[in-house]
Amino acid sequence: MEGYKEFRGWVYRIRKLGDDKIFIVLRNAHTIIQGVIRKGADRRLWEIGEKLYIESSILMGGKIRQDSRAPNGYEIDIEKLEPIHIGEPFPISRDQSEEFLLDNRHLWIRSQRLTKIFQARHYLIKYLEEYLHNNGFYRFDPPIITVSGAEGGADMFELEYFNRKAYLTQSSQMYGEAGIFGLERVYTLAPSFRAEKSRTRRHLAEYWHLEPEAAFVDWKENLKIQEGMIEYAVQKFLNNHPELVEYFQVKDMLKNIKAPFPILTYYQAVDLVNSLGGKMEYGQDFGADEEALISSKYDRPVFIVKYPKNIKAFYMKQDPDNPELVLNDDLIAPYGHGEIIGGSERIWDLEELKNRMKEVNLPEENYKWYLDLRRFGSVPHSGFGLGIERFVKFVLNLDHIRDAIPFPRTINRVYP
Ligand code: 4AD
Ligand code: MG
Repeated sequence: MEGYKEFRGWVYRIRKLGDDKIFIVLRNAHTIIQGVIRKGADRRLWEIGEKLYIESSILMGGKIRQDSRAPNGYEIDIEKLEPIHIGEPFPISRDQSEEFLLDNRHLWIRSQRLTKIFQARHYLIKYLEEYLHNNGFYRFDPPIITVSGAEGGADMFELEYFNRKAYLTQSSQMYGEAGIFGLERVYTLAPSFRAEKSRTRRHLAEYWHLEPEAAFVDWKENLKIQEGMIEYAVQKFLNNHPELVEYFQVKDMLKNIKAPFPILTYYQAVDLVNSLGGKMEYGQDFGADEEALISSKYDRPVFIVKYPKNIKAFYMKQDPDNPELVLNDDLIAPYGHGEIIGGSERIWDLEELKNRMKEVNLPEENYKWYLDLRRFGSVPHSGFGLGIERFVKFVLNLDHIRDAIPFPRTINRVYP
C-alpha cells in the first residue's frame, strides 16, 4: 500500500483537534482506514470535513503512508474528499440499550461486529454446502407453505391460503424424503417456522434450516455424515479466515472440533446429568441446563442417541433391539451452546408408519402423500436438520442467537 489511493465508504469515526487537524476514519466492507486533513490544507477540504457526520458516505483520496498510531497501521493525507451523502446525524452511538439497537436493527447491521458475524455466516454456509456437494448431495428446494406439520403439527403459524387454512413449514424434511427417490441424496436449505412461546437465547420463530436426507443410509452412517459435515465446515473456517477467528477469539475452541465425536446413549446421558448434580428421570427430555452439564465434559460436540420414542417425532424408526427406543440422534455443541442437530433413520415400511401414527393420534388423511412414499419402491433412509443460527452461535461463541441472523424474528419482535 503505497502512493495515491482512493476509498469509497462511510465515516466510521471523526475527530477534530482544534484548528489543527481533522481525523476521518473511513470504513467499508474490506477495510478501515484513517485519513487526516491538516491545518493549512485546501480550505474546501476543511469545510467538507467539518460538515460530515458519523455514517456520512464519502469518497476519500490521498497519499497513503505507514503510521503506527492509525487503526490499520496506515494513514492517508487527504487530498480529495467528496461527500456522496452527508445525511442526518446517526441515531446510534455508544452505550445504547439492547432494545434500542433491536428497534434500529436496519441501521445496526452496519456495525463492525454484525458485519463480521454475517461474513462468517456466509462462509460457514458455503462450507456446509461444499461438504454436501462433495458427498453427492443435491440442493432441493421445498415449499414454505404447507398443510401438515412435519414435527407433529404443534406450534405452527397458521395462514389464510385463498379460502383454506395453511401453515408456514416447521421443517422441510418430508419434502426432502420425497426428493431422495429421484436424486438419492438431497438437502434443503430453507426457513423453518416455530410458533413456540420460548424466550431463550437459542430460539427463533423463523430460522434457516439445513436438512440433508439420503437413501440407503442407516442411522450410524447418518452420524458419520453429520460429524463429517461439522468438522469440514469448522476446520475450513478456522484455516481460511484467521482474521474472523481472531476477532471472535475462537481458535482454541475450534481447533478441537474434529471427528470422531463422542457418542452417549440417552440413558448414559441421563446418568451423566445426574452424576453432575442435575435431576432427571428416565423418560424426560434434556433442557438447556441438562445439555450444558453434558457438554461441560467434552471439548467437542457430543451425540446423544436412541431416545425413548415417546419424546421424539413419529417418523423415527424404532430400535430393533428395544422398540421403546428410536434410531435417532441429537448433536450437542460444546460450551453450553446446546442442541445444534436433530436427526434419525426414518420408518420406511408402510404398516409400521401407519401403526406409529395411530399410536400418537395423527390423522392419516393429512399425511397421504407422505405415506405414498412408502408404497412405491420404499428404501431405508436417514436424515437430519441443522439450525444455521444455532451453528453460527456456537462457532462464533455468541451469547444470543438473534445476532446470528440479520433480522431476528422472536416471540416479541417482527420489526424491522
Ligand atoms: O430437532 P428439530 O425440531 O428437528 C427437525 O425439525 C427434523 N425434521 C430435522 C430433520 O431430521 N430433518 O430441529 C432441527 C434443528 C435443531 O437441532 C436446532 O438446531 C434447530 O433445528 N432449531 C431451531 N433453531 C432456532 N430456533 C428454533 N426455535 C429452533 N428449533 C429447532
Ligand atoms: Mg430437536
